[in-house]
Order: sequence, then C-alpha cells, then structure tokens
Amino acid sequence: MKANVVVVNPEHPEMEIIQQAAEIVQTGGLVAFPTETVYGLGANALETEAVAKIFQAKGRPSHNPLIVHVPGVAFAKQLVCEWPKLADRLAEQFWPGSLTLVLTKAKTVPANVTANGPTVAIRVPSHPVALALLRQATVPIAAPSANKSNRLSPTCADHVALDLGGEVDLILDGGPCPGGLESTVLDVTTYPPRLLRPGLVTPSQIENLVGPIEVVGERIDETDTLRSPGMLDKHYAPRTPLELVEGDAKERVKELNSRGLEVGWLRFGKKIQDRPSGVVIEQMSAEPKAYAATLYAALHRCDAEGLSIIVLELPPRSEDWLAVHDRLRRAAGK
Ligand code: TXA
Ligand code: MG
Repeated sequence: MKANVVVVNPEHPEMEIIQQAAEIVQTGGLVAFPTETVYGLGANALETEAVAKIFQAKGRPSHNPLIVHVPGVAFAKQLVCEWPKLADRLAEQFWPGSLTLVLTKAKTVPANVTANGPTVAIRVPSHPVALALLRQATVPIAAPSANKSNRLSPTCADHVALDLGGEVDLILDGGPCPGGLESTVLDVTTYPPRLLRPGLVTPSQIENLVGPIEVVGERIDETDTLRSPGMLDKHYAPRTPLELVEGDAKERVKELNSRGLEVGWLRFGKKIQDRPSGVVIEQMSAEPKAYAATLYAALHRCDAEGLSIIVLELPPRSEDWLAVHDRLRRAAGK
C-alpha cells in the first residue's frame, strides 16, 4: 500500500494539515510526525486500542514501553501520581526539548503504554509540527520512533515511508529532524536520578541543574534492562553489518575492498583524497551535534546502496559523544 505523505512547513505548520492529523489521532489512527530528535509513530495515549496499533505496526515486543508526548507541564502532571520538585526544575530547563522523564504513572495511562509497569516516560517535544499536533489533538500522544522494531530510527519522512508506509494513516513530512538521535531518558523516580538512555541533553547539563545523577552507560546489567526494556535488544541497527574502527580505517577498507566487497566508509572528520572504486564514502562531521544530525541518514543511505559492510571510524570518547557512542555500539550489535 502506498504511504499517505503530506508535506508540512516545519516552522509554521499549516493548520488545515495539522487539523487533519489531529482528527486521525482523535479517532484512534496512527500518524507519523517529525520531532526535533527523530520521527515518531503517534497514537492517542489514552486509548488502549490505538496504542496497540503502534505495537502491531512496529512489530514491537509488548514488554517495551512507549514515550508519551504532551504539549506542556500541566498536561504531564495529569499522567503521573507524583510530580517531584526535581521534575519541575528539569522541565523548566529542558522542555520543550529532547529530555524524557520517567515518573510514577497515574491510573489514566493505559497499561500497554507502560508495558504494565508502574512508571510512564513523558516528554514535551520542541518541533513546531509535533507541538502543533499535540495542541490540536488535545490528547497525549504515545510515540516511539517510527521504524520497525530494532531498526534504525527515521530522521526524514522517506525513512518512515520505506519502513512503515503501508501501516500508518498519515505521514507528516516536515523535512529532516534537526537533532537526529532519540531523546535522553532520565528516571526521576529514584534518587539520585538515573540516566537510562543518553541523548543530546548530556549528563553534565542535567547535573549542573540537579546535582549528581547515576549514569548507567556501558554498565548495563539485568536490572537496567528491566528498568528500560528498550535497551535490551539489538537496536538502532542498519541492515548492513557495521564494523567500528578506532582511528583511520583506510587499510581496513582497502582490505575488504580487495576481497571484492562493496564497502560503506563513514569517515570521521578528515576529507578523503583517493576514493577507491566499490567504496561509498560518507564524510562525517567532527562536531558532535552535526554528526548526530546526519548519522542515521548516512546509515540509511548505506542500506539503500545494498553494500556488504559498513566501516565506521569512531569519534572521540568525550562526554559530548556519549549518545553517539551508545547508538553506534547498539547498531554494531555490541
Ligand atoms: O526522541 C525520542 O525519544 C523519540 C521521539 C519520537 O520522541 N522516541 C523514541 O521512542 O525514541 P522509542 O520507543 O524508540 O524509545 C523509547 C525508550 C525505550 O528505550 C523505552 O524502553 C524507554 O524509552 N522507556 C519508555 N517508557 C519507559 C519507562 N516507563 N521506564 C523506562 N524506560 C522507558
Ligand atoms: Mg526506537
């Protein structure tokens, strides 16, 4: 089935288009929409059956809870039974924006949204299309990334159409997502708060505001998995095998290429002079935000080329790169 895609102005969304999308949400349908992080696959978060369609379309395991999107703090408070002071300060600083807060859920939130768990993840997105849709729909919108389960998140409408085109009622095409990586997920039901998924809001930005937090990071164990079930599986993965290389990958690319393999090369920082044939080169930025904004699109392009392998030169290990390293590790199945 061909996807129903409507182009929308990303800064000043046309109200008649937003109205159409809001009606689909209100009547229990699925709408894919841009956020400042990645595209989301949205449904009315208060309707069990609408939410079930998300799991169905994505092939998402029912043990993996969804993020609920709301237009503001007042709305968020209606979905929780406790709103800690800490949440006020975090929301004031980072909402609208790419920080998701995990809070104790209220009874109004259907069980399938939270995978039967006692907590609910909430954020206020800053993308004008997402905000306009939330305001117009007047219901909270549950929205995971708009991709098949375990695949790369979509950062433009074409990615959504390729993966889920036949399964959504409408795709709002607001162009590429400026952030390019999924939101930071912070559990504020524990003290100190725990970072469950790194994102473009960094641990130091959070700590500057609320003091020390626990960073789960690389030390993910069984309990962490249960706390944020989405971190369990191989995730954020391109179809093409991905190999991560410290430093210059030139020799590795040459070797693979000499074996007759079609190679994608995600080059870090430096420009490439001699371009071997049979090698697709993606020149990546040495600046973390610009890198994040283009990473998934580069991996999607490599997938579309039908290559044998992608070789990626790893960025530095500083905190600015935490979220990128997290996604790369998962994408490579580590
Ligand atoms: O940037 C984003 O967060 C995007 C856009 C669309 O908002 N959404 C997104 O959703 O990345 P998704 O479903 O792909 O990832 C949600 C993550 C998963 O790792 C999930 O396990 C975790 O958030 N999560 C959701 N609810 C949770 C909860 N109650 N407790 C702990 N982790 C939760
Ligand atoms: Mg996802």
